[in-house]
Amino acid sequence: MSQLRGDYKSVWNSLSGSKEEAYLVVSGYTDEDKFHADAEDTADILRETVGIRPDDIVLEIGCGVGRVGRVLSPFVKEWIGCDVSANMLRLAGRRLLGLHNTRLQEISGYDLQPIPDAAVDLVYTTVVFMHLEEWDRYNYVLEAKRVLKPGGRFYCDNVDLASPAGWAVFEESRLRFKPHERPSQISKCSTQPELQAFLDHAGFGDVRVAGRLNFWAYGWGTKPGEAG
Ligand SMILES: C[S@@+](CC[C@H](N)C(=O)[O-])C[C@H]1O[C@@H](n2cnc3c(N)ncnc32)[C@H](O)[C@@H]1O
Repeated sequence: MSQLRGDYKSVWNSLSGSKEEAYLVVSGYTDEDKFHADAEDTADILRETVGIRPDDIVLEIGCGVGRVGRVLSPFVKEWIGCDVSANMLRLAGRRLLGLHNTRLQEISGYDLQPIPDAAVDLVYTTVVFMHLEEWDRYNYVLEAKRVLKPGGRFYCDNVDLASPAGWAVFEESRLRFKPHERPSQISKCSTQPELQAFLDHAGFGDVRVAGRLNFWAYGWGTKPGEAG
């Protein structure tokens, strides 16, 4: 594999040349009904953790083809999908056709630079941290804090190394790929303490972490200050 893992734009554009390739790399399948059902699950987790409110401006980091945006956008004021890959965003544009409160934004892969400070009520990122270097995960936590309004909420998740199924992911990749044959986008786990440390160090308040299905670690918190 010649591409560097940290060259996110080139790696993810090359993984999403067609709709089928993009769906497979986003979810592992191309079945539209399952894709939709999984997105409903993600929306439910957001409801249980950070909450979804009708007046929310919501931003997703690494939105892919708009899997979650399609089910979430009818319940919020505005949904902004950010992704490093122009190919993913083109497919997201097709998938979100007719949903007029959605907007797509290409980003560098390291920050949310086009988004102004204190402009968003909720930032979430799902099924993305496993593809990023730890420093870039934390950079996005810091960027989420920057773009959130005071009182705004942030959610992130990753496969949990300390869970039974998370350990299986780790072992499967370790045994399957020789050191020089590891795909650039290969999934690398987090732990609940890692997510806790990122949110604490970034200055989020009310930080909570949890696990789910013996597989996921997720964390969420609130930007200090009075909601406007
Ligand atoms: C497995 S997909 C998940 C997509 C979406 N979050 C979902 O759950 O359906 C990972 C997404 O993250 C994007 N991505 C990868 N590296 C990124 C980076 N450094 N910054 C922003 N997006 C990135 C990819 O282009 C891809 O769309």
